[in-house]
Amino acid sequence: MNPRFKAVIFDLDGVLTDTARFHYVAWKKMASGLGISIDETFNETLKGIDRMMSLERILQHGNVQLPLEDKQRLAHEKNEHYKELTAAMTRKDLLPGALDRLDELKGLGVKISLASASKNAPAILEALGISGYFDSIANPALVAHGKPAPDIFLLAAAPLQVRPEECLGVEDAEAGVTAIKSAGMQALGVGDPQVLAAADRVVPGLDVFTFADLFADWP
Ligand code: BG6
Ligand code: MG
Repeated sequence: MNPRFKAVIFDLDGVLTDTARFHYVAWKKMASGLGISIDETFNETLKGIDRMMSLERILQHGNVQLPLEDKQRLAHEKNEHYKELTAAMTRKDLLPGALDRLDELKGLGVKISLASASKNAPAILEALGISGYFDSIANPALVAHGKPAPDIFLLAAAPLQVRPEECLGVEDAEAGVTAIKSAGMQALGVGDPQVLAAADRVVPGLDVFTFADLFADWP
């Protein structure tokens, strides 16, 4: 069989593992130290957004202005807290269906790539024991523009020698879906269909479908 897509490019946080929750906990604590309160709805606007830009959004939300030095310190502290929260992660922290879908793609001969905004992504993949599945991992430090710009998805696809239209991007964030569509790829949203309305398809999790079925039914 010739699969509908030659490559599937995954986001990490909130798609393969529930680290989106840990990012939220760490940002919430940092924000509350500044007297800024953030909730789950506001947190949706942080998903997929890189570290410094997320901090800027939180400061703007709380109408707080700080010198660069303080911002760098706060971003560092948030990251240290995030690393503590994720330190004990193992393969059991993969979201339901994640390992099955990675195995399935290997069986189908479809390339697997990672397009995460997180500089912690390589360490998290190691902790989860899934680094070996990836044919490429885009380095977010190398992209000029973070999500919702297409850069990281295009960078993830580059070493695979596939055209954007041959790639399926998988995302839990609105900014991520916009990035996938801007890259000229097809988008599979994982999560809330209202938040991910711009995706070509939305599923509630990786455990409720097979790629074989999904590809067979994809226009
Ligand atoms: C994204 C997350 O994957 O990575 C964001 O959705 C996070 O919440 C961003 O801020 C950057 O992560 P890190 O680990 O480099 O601070
Ligand atoms: Mg995500």
